[in-house]
Amino acid sequence: MKSACPKIAVAVLMFAACAFPCLAQLEGSTIETSTTHPVPSIQDTETPAQHEARMAWWREARFGMFIHWSLYSIPAGTWKGKQVEGIGEWIMNSGSIPVADYKALAGQFNPTSFNAHDIVALAKAAGMKYIVITAKHHDGFAMFDSKADPFNIVAATSFHRDPIRELADECKQQSIKLGFYYSQDQDWTAPGGAAFKRADHQAPTFHWDKAQDGEFAAYLHNKAIPQIKELLTNYGDFPVVIWFDTPTKDMTPGLAGEIVALLNQHPNLIWNNRLGGGYKGDTETPEQFIPAEGYPGRDWESCMTMNDTWGFKAYDTNFKSTETLLRNLIDIASKGGNYLLNIGPDAKGNVPPAEVDRLQQVGKWIATNGESIYGTKPTLFGAEAGAFSTTEKDKNGEPKFVPSWDWRSTTAPNKIYVELFTWPKETFHLDDSPRTITGAYLLADKSQKPLRVTHTDTGTDVALPAAAPDLIASVLVLTTE
Ligand code: GLC
Repeated sequence: MKSACPKIAVAVLMFAACAFPCLAQLEGSTIETSTTHPVPSIQDTETPAQHEARMAWWREARFGMFIHWSLYSIPAGTWKGKQVEGIGEWIMNSGSIPVADYKALAGQFNPTSFNAHDIVALAKAAGMKYIVITAKHHDGFAMFDSKADPFNIVAATSFHRDPIRELADECKQQSIKLGFYYSQDQDWTAPGGAAFKRADHQAPTFHWDKAQDGEFAAYLHNKAIPQIKELLTNYGDFPVVIWFDTPTKDMTPGLAGEIVALLNQHPNLIWNNRLGGGYKGDTETPEQFIPAEGYPGRDWESCMTMNDTWGFKAYDTNFKSTETLLRNLIDIASKGGNYLLNIGPDAKGNVPPAEVDRLQQVGKWIATNGESIYGTKPTLFGAEAGAFSTTEKDKNGEPKFVPSWDWRSTTAPNKIYVELFTWPKETFHLDDSPRTITGAYLLADKSQKPLRVTHTDTGTDVALPAAAPDLIASVLVLTTE
């Protein structure tokens, strides 16, 4: 097997096409950034060594839980008896629901089944090392105790509890890291908040209700910035990550700089590439797709739904199989990325059973094979992931990437992990290896019984037992000099 020469072009999606073209980081697109910032960010000022140290836990983690949860889980995709197309958390926008009608949902929101302990334990059992929850999504409802704005779960509902506080306490208890998603630009219930129709996020703000009109800068100064300050200071050691979203033209470098000044007060904080205003942040965020070759030289995190929606939609049962989810995790790790996999609790705070099942099954695999994922480096090979078609083009007119699914590889000092999706008959063959292979065993075999390794002039052969240890992915460990 020839080692593939990397092509920079970011291309195609392998699995899980979302119903709508994804917004912020579309396939083949990059978010505009500039190097001259009115307020230098940590990325501008830190040394390479400081950057490595700050990103270390995140790179080691590889796997996290995304939680989309807010008032939109009440209509759950249906408004006034009609199903509303699109992702559940966009129902207010897709249905052009008036501000007063949407805000009235707070009066019905009482998620008494919400259990922070169980959700954190579910993430932990799945092998996830961090959680990112929507503290405030585009609908403008704060899922935390905000003194800055009364439209929040403590002040505006009969629940009167702060789920972010409860998750922070449980994460500390269970040694899981916690981050917050905050929709800094779009806010469909605050005067001046940005809003756009999903079809055209480059368009100027589009309001469907007069109550949304106002100055964007006023919205930032009166609501977003005070709330970001609350989130950065009210939850102890958390957040470790801030996940911004859907930057718009309203977010000028100057306004973004005001937020960066806040972020700079938390020098260990990691934040993504979706703040806007020309700031690139720490991580690329491909959404609902896996880039063919990752983002060489950049940290990246592929975020994905288990079905076709982030926010709970009662009738969206198009769940990916555990096999697909595991292959995604392994594929992403083999390209040096993180996987942020979403759950969407319902209006009572229950996690949909289909999502619980899949996370528990993924966790079983990780319990045996996690060593081949956590803290590993990308593959030393590359061609095993597939190749660019010489004839077919993708929707961006780029050569179409055609994935292959026999195996992937991740790397550690003195070890090469081969994650086999297709169990070869008798022998696994490697054309060439950039390292000298000294031995082999199956990761699932606790006794690490040596497998016969034969070096031939066409490469290396490893003799395999007849049956694969795992039906989805069996990990072969090659020890190397
Ligand atoms: C998109 C969607 C948003 C979702 C986010 C997750 O930006 O607009 O609803 O939260 O993706 O990545």
